[in-house]
Amino acid sequence: MSHVPIAKLGFIATLLLLLACGTRKQETAAIVPPATTAPVEEPPAVQPPPAEPVTIVKGDAPATSELALLMRAMTAFADSTRLRVAQGQELLPFPEKFKTLKTAEATPGMKDPKVFDAYDLAWLHHLDALYKAPEPERAGVFNTLVQTCAGCHGTMCPGPLVKIKKLGLPAR
Ligand code: HEC
Repeated sequence: MSHVPIAKLGFIATLLLLLACGTRKQETAAIVPPATTAPVEEPPAVQPPPAEPVTIVKGDAPATSELALLMRAMTAFADSTRLRVAQGQELLPFPEKFKTLKTAEATPGMKDPKVFDAYDLAWLHHLDALYKAPEPERAGVFNTLVQTCAGCHGTMCPGPLVKIKKLGLPAR
């Protein structure tokens, strides 16, 4: 039974790798495999210490800056909104907290202030436009919003681009 949480931890570590900016990618990618291969045939009596995978998660040091947390909320928002738009459902209540994008403190070195402001203005503009757009136009506006995520991430913090590319909706 104990192999389940270990496998989960490995999965979470991988997930965090996919979401993070990508600067420490190689270092951690080399550490992950033991966590995913070891548990498979362990007898239930053996309790592999969870310390190792936990250290991997910590070692990856997922950013905990205000901006990183906001970005995770933006990712969850985009994921949910994508489905809502695709299924013609009502949008979530307007996410006022994303207006702090301009001022949210970033992990040192992660934010390029020279280009950040142009993209954050554009992103908030498209967010407003999404809530003003008539239902049939929402998919198009949503895709523009996601392209603005990608635009900013093309200039800094490229790790999340993989995830961002999967957020787009097929054109109607
Ligand atoms: C204005 C530029 C900009 C826009 C627009 C933007 N991002 Fe980010 N994003 C950043 C920066 C800078 C970071 C690094 C934050 C830090 O580490 O403090 C980041 C970090 C992230 C992270 C990693 C968070 C973590 O856990 O470390 C994810 C995931 C992410 N963004 C997804 C998105 C998605 C999805 C969108 C659109 C819905 C988006 N971003 C829009 C600049 C932007």
